Amino acid sequence: AGPSGGGGSSTARQINHITVFGAGLMGGGIAQVAAQAGLKVTLTDVNEAALKRGLGAIAQSVARVGKKKAPDNVEAFVAKVLGNIKTTVDPTEAVKDADLVVEAVIENLKLKQDLFAKLDKVAKPSAIFATNTSSLLVGDVGATLPEARQRLFAGLHFFSPVPVMKLVEVIRGPKTEDSVIDALLVLAKRMHKVAVRAPDKPGFIVNRLLIPYKLEAARMLERGDATVEDIDIAMKLGAGYPMGPFELFDMVGLDITKFVSEGWKEYAERGLIPAELVKPSPLIEKMVSEGKIGRKAGKGFYDYTKGKK
Ligand code: 3HC
Repeated sequence: AGPSGGGGSSTARQINHITVFGAGLMGGGIAQVAAQAGLKVTLTDVNEAALKRGLGAIAQSVARVGKKKAPDNVEAFVAKVLGNIKTTVDPTEAVKDADLVVEAVIENLKLKQDLFAKLDKVAKPSAIFATNTSSLLVGDVGATLPEARQRLFAGLHFFSPVPVMKLVEVIRGPKTEDSVIDALLVLAKRMHKVAVRAPDKPGFIVNRLLIPYKLEAARMLERGDATVEDIDIAMKLGAGYPMGPFELFDMVGLDITKFVSEGWKEYAERGLIPAELVKPSPLIEKMVSEGKIGRKAGKGFYDYTKGKK
């Protein structure tokens, strides 16, 4: 069978209004692709400054898309897409009309659970809740929600840069209803993405393979086997990857990979993934403590203040 794109049953729930928590790289990207698909979007974060930064990044990215989709009037294209996005820092206001609430906040289980518990009390009883977690189990994120909401809870995992990467992983939680999975598959198609159904196991499909690969690249460097540049060139020209592992570290953010390997320690203890595969890298820990977390900081494995793309 092909990818699990669209094709939901006639009973699929309608999603017209999405609320996204977290205006960072992922949340902003999700808000953008939803707005480009003509959905009503509410983007929310903890303060106005974060929302302002997020909207600025979205506007730049929409302009890049507009150059291809509406070359004669990029400005009007940008205005139309941004016109579909409302912002607020008030969580209650943010979710009151949502058919789907997606969280894209930092990879911290307690934080995500607390956020969903709070939203459960103010969102419509029929609203679907989804997590964009990269590395936590969907079952763990939803575990503290009331039973009725757990039936409407699933994983909806996008890839960076969200406006470009075609894939969405749809992950069924322990109690997710079929109609919710169907609605998410239909939504992914509407956002011009290809959906695959992925298992609720650490890293789902993509990160289960990608994180150990990136950590092993960091270990190669720690062992002094090869340089950053040579490892990146080798994987691009020898394996056809669009980016080398260190370029990918920088684009996604070293802090994100660190959170993931920390979180997976517990999953290794639970026997869900081999400990050796996700052993934290001292090099990555050191770089994160020095603030060299990648593109968003101007410095990671490469220096972006000196013009590297
Ligand atoms: N917004 C809109 N458009 C963008 C964009 C953005 N942020 N970034 C790139 N683009 C568009 C460009 O406009 C360009 O379009 P065109 O070819 O039609 O002119 C196209 O994408 C290619 O961009 P560039 O020419 O600037 O650069 P590249 O050809 O090097 O492509 C890339 C950039 C798409 C990022 C490519 O290098 C790539 O696919 N890299 C791998 C990314 C990857 O592995 N992502 C997964 C990360 S893991 C993850 O996300 C999991 C999560 O849980 C953390």
